[in-house]
Amino acid sequence: MGKFRVRGGRKLGGNIRVIGAKNAILPILAAVILTRKPVVLYDFPHLADVENMLLILQSIGCRIQRENSTLYIDPSQINSWVIPDRYVKEIRSSIVMLGAVLARMKKAVITYPGGCEIGQRPINLHLQGLRQLGVIITESHGYLECEATNMVGADIHLDYPSVGATENIMLAATCAKGQTVIRNAAKEPEITDLQNFINSMGGKVTGAGSNTIIIEGVDSFNETEYTVIPDRIVAGTYLIAAAITGSEIVVENVIMEHIQAVVNKLREAGCIITPYKGIGVDKIKIKAPDRLRAIENTKTYPYPGFPTDMQALFMSALTVSKGTSIITENIFENRFKHVPELIRMGARIRTEGKIAVIQGVPRLKGAEVSAGDLRGGAALIMAGLNAEGETIIDNIRHIRRGYDKLDEYLRSIGADIERIDHN
Ligand code: UD1
Repeated sequence: MGKFRVRGGRKLGGNIRVIGAKNAILPILAAVILTRKPVVLYDFPHLADVENMLLILQSIGCRIQRENSTLYIDPSQINSWVIPDRYVKEIRSSIVMLGAVLARMKKAVITYPGGCEIGQRPINLHLQGLRQLGVIITESHGYLECEATNMVGADIHLDYPSVGATENIMLAATCAKGQTVIRNAAKEPEITDLQNFINSMGGKVTGAGSNTIIIEGVDSFNETEYTVIPDRIVAGTYLIAAAITGSEIVVENVIMEHIQAVVNKLREAGCIITPYKGIGVDKIKIKAPDRLRAIENTKTYPYPGFPTDMQALFMSALTVSKGTSIITENIFENRFKHVPELIRMGARIRTEGKIAVIQGVPRLKGAEVSAGDLRGGAALIMAGLNAEGETIIDNIRHIRRGYDKLDEYLRSIGADIERIDHN
């Protein structure tokens, strides 16, 4: 399955570039099938989740070609509305294919995506929204059978600003008759990227980034070429790598606004962060103190709040800060799997329900630990960069879902990390 070995204690330095965002590319790949014309995607990240999404596209008839980080997709020959079980089970976010397949094929069959490592992850809001557009959904034997012959725009109010539900409804509504309004929509940058991508093909979506999104149904879409936004969580991971090792690095290809909540917290912890504004994308320099200050209160919230995807990573940095920190995980109910592993490395953490209290220690100690989920796994690598001696991180398939060659990238700025045991 593969493991990472990290030898901690090295200072990092130099420049590191962020790849295209996983959580932006996944819904964009679903949106590709709205058109029958060729699509070219630039800065395409090579990640396990994304590879899985490509397999889904191929299984329903898309032709795909790849040259380095450019992807060519021909979605003209789509001939199936059945999304194969094995991929949906592998990657939960493939549920966004539902809205896109309904828009294109007017029907869809998908297995009910169960819970995952970080929580139950229901899809009630996705289904409620699609039903309001007129989709008839029958749930039987773990499958969702959906008919969308008469999709008509609707005024949809989400009980909670779910990212996936917002995306799924946006995708289906692009081909509904008339106007759809999504209220209390998610405001994540990945939603704005999806809007921009749909519009680059001739769609009519406005309002993404605010809590009200308006979608005008259209009859057909054009060809397009598109560059996906940089991954704000990967950018945050590199900032944490610098913070936990007391280093100075420059992170390239970031959008400062997207990581403001994380930057604010790192500044509170004593890091000096300097943005260099660019055209479209920025660079940021982080200079971390020898030892971070504890942060009294960090709570995860939907964007623009502090992202749940950064919670584990940030916690690993706080384990070696001076003083006591508190983190509250508000989004997912099972997102503290990294805690027992960090404790094995000498961290002092207590959890109760959704709250973690972290008492900083001067330094972590290397240990054999196991990645329980994607970001929690990356958090253990961060901890390993600080720890005295050797840390072995097992179960790294979770990490590969969201990071492309994380070991190579970290080595390029001076980390001592290598992949061992490739079997
Ligand atoms: C997306 C991201 C994930 C991130 C999360 C929150 C992708 C591929 N994944 O996941 O990395 O951690 O946003 O920022 O973009 N909920 C319901 N009913 C629903 C849908 C969601 O109760 O129908 C709940 C979930 O259980 C969770 C909360 O809403 O507690 C947030 O989930 P949601 O915003 O939908 O996250 P995802 O789209 O699954």
